[in-house]
Amino acid sequence: MTKKVTTSTLLKMKEQGQKITALTAYDASFAKLFDEQGVDMMLIGDSLGMVLQGSDDTLTVTIDNIAYHTRAVRKGTQRSFVVADMPFMTYSTPEQAFINAGKLMAAGASMVKVEGGDWLLDTINALNQRGVPVCGHLGLTPQSVHVFGGFKVQGRTDMQAEILLDHAKALVQAGIQLLVLECVPTGLAEKISKAVKIPVIGIGAGPKTDGQILVMHDMFGISANYMPKFSKNYLEETGDIREAVKSYIQEVQNGTFPSELHSFD
Ligand code: KIV
Repeated sequence: MTKKVTTSTLLKMKEQGQKITALTAYDASFAKLFDEQGVDMMLIGDSLGMVLQGSDDTLTVTIDNIAYHTRAVRKGTQRSFVVADMPFMTYSTPEQAFINAGKLMAAGASMVKVEGGDWLLDTINALNQRGVPVCGHLGLTPQSVHVFGGFKVQGRTDMQAEILLDHAKALVQAGIQLLVLECVPTGLAEKISKAVKIPVIGIGAGPKTDGQILVMHDMFGISANYMPKFSKNYLEETGDIREAVKSYIQEVQNGTFPSELHSFD
């Protein structure tokens, strides 16, 4: 029996300087394939609103959508660590967060992910106390796309960078055990990754984070009409789904992905 990846495994990987590989997954077949190739972590992301449902953003996704796909991913997974996204407006208060996180943990998640900074501190602490591990998400948090005025790189000014660093430290203090950093400059992502003891997983955050995550549809080059700058089409390079995943894992582990081409200043 393969040893399951846990929060302790991920922490040890950070401590030993071993890069963590992660992909989004939404069904049992892809989850099994990713698991067999050795992907360390799978996220049932609310990106499913865009890549599965065809929406313009992630705001249309419901807790039942994520629970449904989490059940499927869990069935295909033996080794990988499974994280499920809490959708828009499902964790506005700690009480609402308990009920909805409970649904995702019951569906098979080993951790839930929430987007945002210091307004979440009480919620994170309360979820932890009730046995729910939490992943934070800072930088370009897609549920706030209308506040940002579009999908834009965050943390480019000194003041924004300082706020993001402070929020990362505060979230860790409140109890998050993993942090996703999305679309921030490479230098800031490196600073945050060094400042916190927990693993930081980047997407559009340069090569200096403790691991990388991509949306699977972007990694296979099949997202409708769009390929983000920070992603790479591994299927085009390899011509085979399993080889594409292997190549992604190798490049993350040996530090060649993301290159400067896929990163922001
Ligand atoms: O929803 C998602 O897929 C995500 C990743 C982009 C990290 O949050």
